[in-house]
Amino acid sequence: MMMRTLTASLLSIGIMITSVHVFAANEPIQPIKPVKPENAEMVELGKMLFFDPRLSKSGFISCNSCHNLSMGGTDNIKTSIGHKWHQGPINAPTVLNASMNLAQFWDGRAKDLKEQAGGPIANPGEMASTHDMAVKVISSISQYREQFKKAFDSTAVDIDRITTAIAAFEETLVTPDSRFDKWLEGDKDALTKAELDGYRLFKSGGCTKCHNGPAVGGNSFEKMGVYKPYETSNAAVGRMDVTGKEEDRFVFKVPTLRNVELTYPYFHDGGAATLEEAVDIMGKIQVNREFSKEEIANIVAFLKTLTGKQPYFKLPILPPSNNATPRSQPFE
Ligand code: HEC
Ligand code: HEC
Repeated sequence: MMMRTLTASLLSIGIMITSVHVFAANEPIQPIKPVKPENAEMVELGKMLFFDPRLSKSGFISCNSCHNLSMGGTDNIKTSIGHKWHQGPINAPTVLNASMNLAQFWDGRAKDLKEQAGGPIANPGEMASTHDMAVKVISSISQYREQFKKAFDSTAVDIDRITTAIAAFEETLVTPDSRFDKWLEGDKDALTKAELDGYRLFKSGGCTKCHNGPAVGGNSFEKMGVYKPYETSNAAVGRMDVTGKEEDRFVFKVPTLRNVELTYPYFHDGGAATLEEAVDIMGKIQVNREFSKEEIANIVAFLKTLTGKQPYFKLPILPPSNNATPRSQPFE
C-alpha cells in the first residue's frame, strides 16, 4: 500500500515535470542555448584574428568586413566585395549560429568552422593572402605570440592554430533569447497574434520540412526550386560542385533563419532584397503555394521574432605591426 502511494506520487511528479517541457517539445524549432566557452584566452585570440585585416593581402579586409558583427554577421550586399574590389560570386551567409550548420558554405564544401576559416584568407577574390604570409605577419608581433601562449601553451604560430582560434571565437557567436525562444520556453505573451498566425502558417505551409531545429535551418541540403525552377543568372550550381552528381545540381545548404531580419539580401545570389520577396518565392517554388499579402506579412512578422541577443563584447584592440612585420599590398 505504502509502496503504491509512493509510486503514484512519484508518477504525478514525473507528469508535472514533463508537462513543463511539453510546450516546446512538440515544436519543430527549439530554443538556442547560450554557450560557455571552455578556453576564454582562445576565444579572445580568435576574436582578435577575426577583426584583424592584416590576415588579408591588402591589410584592409578582415573576416568582419564581410561578416560584420554590427550587422547580423553579414555584409548586407548582394554578393561580397573582395581584394581590389573583386566582385564576389555569391552572397555571404551569416556567421551567427554558423556553429550549428551541418557543414559550412552554401554547398557544404567545408566540414566545419576550422576548415572553413582557412578558405577566405587564401582566396584570391576575398582576402588574397596565403597561409604562409598570414603566419609570417601574425608571428612577427610579440603581443600575438603571447596570446598564442595563453591559448595554446606555446608561442608557435601556424595556420592550424590560427583557424582553431577563429573557430573557437565563432562558436561563441550564438544568439539566444529571441522573442520566439521566450515563447517556446512558455511565455505565451511573447508573440503577437499576427506573429503566432505567421508561425502556424510557417508550419502548416511546409516550411519546417527544411527550416527546423534550433537554427531553423542549417541541418540539411535541399533543392532550390522543388516545384518550379529558381530564376537566376548566378553561376553557382550548389552541392553538385562537391559531389559531382547531377542530382545535386541546385541543391544548397538550407540557411538558418535565425536573425534573418538582419541578414538581407536573401538567397545564395542575394536575389531577394526583402523578406516579403523571399517568403513569396519560397512559397511558390518550395511548397507550391501562392500566399496572400496578409499571409506573407504574418510569416515575415514571425520571422522577425527570430532575432536573438546579438554577441556583445569589447572591440579588440589589435597590437601594432613592427619593423619585422611584412607590409600589406593594397593595390597589387
Ligand atoms: C570578401 C568577403 C569575405 C571575407 C573577407 C570572409 N568571408 Fe566568410 N564568406 C563569404 C562568402 C561570400 C561566403 C559564402 C561562400 C560560399 O558559400 O561559397 C562565406 C562563408 C563563410 C562561412 C560559412 C557560413 C555558412 O553558413 O555556410 C563562414 C563560417 C565564414 N564565411 C567565416 C569567415 C571567416 C572566419 C573569415 C575570416 C578568416 C571570413 N569568413 C572572411 C565572404 C567573406
Ligand atoms: C525543400 C526545402 C525548403 C522548404 C520547404 C522551404 N525552404 Fe526556405 N530555403 C531553402 C533553401 C535550400 C534555401 C536557400 C536557397 C538558395 O539560396 O539557393 C532557403 C532560403 C530561404 C530564405 C532566405 C534565407 C537567406 O538567408 O538567404 C527564407 C527567408 C526562407 N527560405 C523561408 C522559407 C519559408 C517561409 C518557407 C515556407 C513557405 C520555406 N523557406 C520553405 C529550403 C527550403
